[in-house]
Amino acid sequence: MRTTEAPDSPAVFDRAADRKSAYVHIPFCARVCPYCDFAVVGDRTDEMDRYVQAVVGEIGRDEPLAPLDAVFVGGGTPSLLPVGALARILAALAERHGIVDDPEITMEANPEDWTVSRGAGYLEEGLTRVSFGVQSTDPRVLLALGRRHGPREVGVAVASARRAGVPSVSVDLIFGHPVETEASWRRTLDEVVELEPDHVSTYALTVERGTPLSRWVAEGSPAPDPDVQAARWEQAVEILGRAGYIRYEVSNHARPGHHCRYNLGAWAGAEYAAYGLGAHGHRDGIRFRNVRSLDAYLDRIEAGESPRQGSEEVRGWEAEVERLFTGIRVAAGVNGGRAVEAFLDSEDGRRLAGLGVIGLVEGRLVVRQPLFTDAVARDVLGLLEMSS
Ligand SMILES: C[S@@+](CC[C@H](N)C(=O)[O-])C[C@H]1O[C@@H](n2cnc3c(N)ncnc32)[C@H](O)[C@@H]1O
Repeated sequence: MRTTEAPDSPAVFDRAADRKSAYVHIPFCARVCPYCDFAVVGDRTDEMDRYVQAVVGEIGRDEPLAPLDAVFVGGGTPSLLPVGALARILAALAERHGIVDDPEITMEANPEDWTVSRGAGYLEEGLTRVSFGVQSTDPRVLLALGRRHGPREVGVAVASARRAGVPSVSVDLIFGHPVETEASWRRTLDEVVELEPDHVSTYALTVERGTPLSRWVAEGSPAPDPDVQAARWEQAVEILGRAGYIRYEVSNHARPGHHCRYNLGAWAGAEYAAYGLGAHGHRDGIRFRNVRSLDAYLDRIEAGESPRQGSEEVRGWEAEVERLFTGIRVAAGVNGGRAVEAFLDSEDGRRLAGLGVIGLVEGRLVVRQPLFTDAVARDVLGLLEMSS
């Protein structure tokens, strides 16, 4: 049963730390967006079936974790999966780890892929949450971002998911592209609110190294302006807040009961299994990642080899510092512990508290000025130099 708990409640966040989940990466895209640096491939959708088979094989050979509370199928573009593939993946996960009775099963989807029959198929296979990559409803911004959909497809997809009865519908937005204006961002937010999604993620456009966007910027195209992005972030918090969405993480807003269980777990330091190209996981005190090349991934799995490319141990003091590093993104704040105490005691911590950037609320360290979260996080990493 979906609860009606506030997404920014400390109890919701603390509970997430003990839940187990799994991430499954589907790398295929009809076209790769120029700002994207995720593990994606743009021209090989004909290998989807072989890939799903490989993912199912990877899951089958993994060590059992524990019944999964949440599964997140991300991309790439998972909505390119043919009906039937999600069921195969979920069956493999259920056989290997078990899945709790009332799980959150999220899939990322592009608006232009969503049809009534696809939606019905995914629901039948176990989907409980869809996260649409909307990004904007301004045609100029959509064009500049290289998206394949227009504003019309956004409305049709969200309404269709609602009508089909998807229990939780989320929308991703990107703000701060230089062609966006304050008025157009406001219009995007107003139009999205009218569609009544349960959850909205708002991300500042980031120029990632190695992407076409970063090349264009190096060649003289305007880059996103951080001051403008800060103002747009505030605009989003205000408009979404007025519409009843509670900001429970720097970039995430939800109606009561509609926080993303998978993401909250990751921020709380919970364990999660991970499968597929470039997937990152966290289990048994180890963070690991898979290879990012499709050929290498398929070849390794088909040869019965591990697709892991690297891993590091995160235990003891490092694990505590990491819990603080990710936890400060969350509005509920991080409950006490050695790292919280050490940070509040440190020179950086005292300076930030003095400036009112961080504070202690009922024993929890809270970032009171979320726009400074990245700066606080950098200072938190300074704790790694201490032995405990
Ligand atoms: C893995 S992507 C989703 C992929 C999905 N196929 C799509 O195109 O919408 C998840 C989200 O990350 C955000 N994102 C990806 N690259 C970004 C960037 N460079 N800057 C800001 N947000 C980004 C977008 O909002 C996107 O919906």
